[in-house]
Amino acid sequence: MVTLEPARKPLKGALRVPGDKSISHRAVILGGIARGTTEITGFLPGADCLATVRCMQALGVTVEVLAPDHLKVTGVGLEGLREPADVLDVGNSGTTIRLLAGLVAGRPYLTVLTGDASIRRRPMDRVAVPLRQMGAQVDGREGGRLAPLVIRGGGLRPIHYRSPVASAQVKSAVLLAGLSAEGETGVTEPARSRDHTERMLAGFGARVRVEGTTAWVEGRPRLEGQRLEVPGDISSAAFFLVAAALVPGSEVLIENVGVNPTRTGILDALRAMGAPIEVLNLREAAGEPVADLLVRGGQALRGTVIAGNLIPRLIDEIPVLAVAAAVAEGPTEIRDAAELRVKESDRIAAVAAELRKLGARVEERPDGMIIEGGARLQGGQVESHGDHRLAMALAVAAQVAAGPVQIAGAEAVGVSFPGFFEHLQALRRGGGAAE
Ligand code: S3P
Repeated sequence: MVTLEPARKPLKGALRVPGDKSISHRAVILGGIARGTTEITGFLPGADCLATVRCMQALGVTVEVLAPDHLKVTGVGLEGLREPADVLDVGNSGTTIRLLAGLVAGRPYLTVLTGDASIRRRPMDRVAVPLRQMGAQVDGREGGRLAPLVIRGGGLRPIHYRSPVASAQVKSAVLLAGLSAEGETGVTEPARSRDHTERMLAGFGARVRVEGTTAWVEGRPRLEGQRLEVPGDISSAAFFLVAAALVPGSEVLIENVGVNPTRTGILDALRAMGAPIEVLNLREAAGEPVADLLVRGGQALRGTVIAGNLIPRLIDEIPVLAVAAAVAEGPTEIRDAAELRVKESDRIAAVAAELRKLGARVEERPDGMIIEGGARLQGGQVESHGDHRLAMALAVAAQVAAGPVQIAGAEAVGVSFPGFFEHLQALRRGGGAAE
């Protein structure tokens, strides 16, 4: 349980958020199947990415932890991966289970993947279906819909998969499986999801083509180890962007944040709500655009519509955007976001329930929510539902509540942002500290 008092003065300072979660997972996976060593700096030492490290070790890859955010991966090549001696436990990490399902689908042995109670509720048929089309045997509870997943891989053929959902996890699972098939494997999505896998595969030497919302990879590539500098996670920066936008007089600089256009929907949405955010010092690192983000607080925010192709570009930021919407002037409508129901928690039901406890007016829809806006949030007791992003969104709400907010299950922040509360306290004291 964490208790947060409202911010009594502006949030001020400069900080660095930990490394991008999506990129950290991919760096360990691709490093493991490349030849030679891959040195990763800025790695996110959160529970999710550490689960990927343990799973890759169980598949025969050597990963040395030189510092919590600095790894040396000794790649064994795709052919060098070996049958794990035990069930692989992904913890709370959807990215780990879905990407590794794709990776091991191409390997000629048995892999069993499972995770915590939340993972065992989340849909796995979205990866089981295409991986079976490629020739892998994929089973699990409820006919392969739920983990534990049991995969007997090998002998894959390339496919062109038309995914019903815009999901980078599905796209990446199919592309990673495609590495073991001879010929070109493609995935077409209804809208463009994050493209870190495509960028990083190309950086490691694979032949990747992108045409609109279709990504192709040529199988059996020669992947070479790389030096990778993981940028800060915009999904973690999002909590401070919103907190600073809401607390009058705030001025917060978040340095070294990944600003890949498939991830920057949060900037578009906050700007549409009237929050002034500046993108400074734009540069490139590890094939990804990176910048410093400066946000100033105090402008009255207004409600907006968040829908369509914008959704995959800010899917993980919707809990914290809902907080901004609750206090903004006028209603905010979020639609086309049914995916939120199958995240770490049912984020539509959970966000609505918890924000209501603080006095917000939120109406649930099957694929989103209507947030009435104009709420004067009050203090109270809320819970994270075991969901890291909900815990952090509620901590942001606490900054502008009228009284103290107690968050049960706040330790969930360690999944993606160890040190979150320390950074928040530093900004409240007026001197955000760099990582
Ligand atoms: C991720 C993809 C997204 C996102 C998740 C990370 C990834 O999930 O919500 O936090 O790293 O590929 P979906 O692929 O289910 O949309």
